[in-house]
Amino acid sequence: MKISVCGKGGSGKSTVVTLLADEARAKGYRVLVVDSDESNLGLYRMLGFDQLPTPLMELVGGKKKVIKSMTRDFSSGESETAMTIMMQDTILVDEIPAEYMREKDNLRLVCIGKILQSLEGCACPMGVLSREFLKKLSLKEDELVIVDMEAGVEHFGRGVETSIDSVLIVVEPSFESLELAERIYSLAAGIGINDVRAILNKAPSDEIAARLEGELGKRGIDVIGCIHYDPEVFKSSMEGSALDKGRAADEIRDVLGSLLPRAKP
Ligand SMILES: Nc1ncnc2c1ncn2[C@@H]1O[C@H](COP(=O)(O)OP(=O)(O)OP(=O)(O)O)[C@@H](O)[C@H]1O
Ligand SMILES: [Mg+2]
Repeated sequence: MKISVCGKGGSGKSTVVTLLADEARAKGYRVLVVDSDESNLGLYRMLGFDQLPTPLMELVGGKKKVIKSMTRDFSSGESETAMTIMMQDTILVDEIPAEYMREKDNLRLVCIGKILQSLEGCACPMGVLSREFLKKLSLKEDELVIVDMEAGVEHFGRGVETSIDSVLIVVEPSFESLELAERIYSLAAGIGINDVRAILNKAPSDEIAARLEGELGKRGIDVIGCIHYDPEVFKSSMEGSALDKGRAADEIRDVLGSLLPRAKP
């Protein structure tokens, strides 16, 4: 099953990805986290790794070559990109070269690419690579892919979600976040994803959580759980350390439980 975690900037996408990944791993899944956010660097730290993996963008020869290499007939094979796994129709998780992955205890992390220099151009090639990589990724029954999307909705324009089974929208207590959730819901439905649900995050009280759930309900969006504001989460993120979780660790359990019954290999 491939799950994409989307939402407004700062709503808690990376936090939710980390919570879900840890919980799924504890449940015996082999989890692959795909860092598809070209701006923020810190997901690897939240997940407890000490280094970012080499971005997959390097594997395919860098940004300039990506669009060309994704559309070229590789059988003529003149470029070094022809040697990469991106040529294959399907990619197994175990086939991803080790240097492009961080790995520990059934948790793996790959990163699509990061914008690190000014004037290096837009992130569209990363969207293309994300889309193609996710499409080709073929999973075994006990494998779960969780994608940390860039903030906002541009990834829908790039078709990154084409092969995604389930979209999870992270909603924080703000009107902007609700409005964006509504747009994500309709964009996801527009490309045929039926399983689109929301998770509340940073709720300061049950009362606020109930109001948010009501607002999302009016927009036709089901809520599958709530992570309250958790000072442990906030503190570890401020310190740039692995995600420390208090109450959030318990709260994510039900969310994963709601996501996985619909799982397909
Ligand atoms: N449940 C929570 N309780 C307390 N703080 C939280 C919670 N969830 C997220 N935060 C804090 O909110 C901030 C943003 O979280 P996070 O980086 O996960 O969001 P994001 O949606 O991935 O952001 P971006 O759009 O920049 O990638 C961080 O400081 C994080 O610690
Ligand atoms: Mg993030």
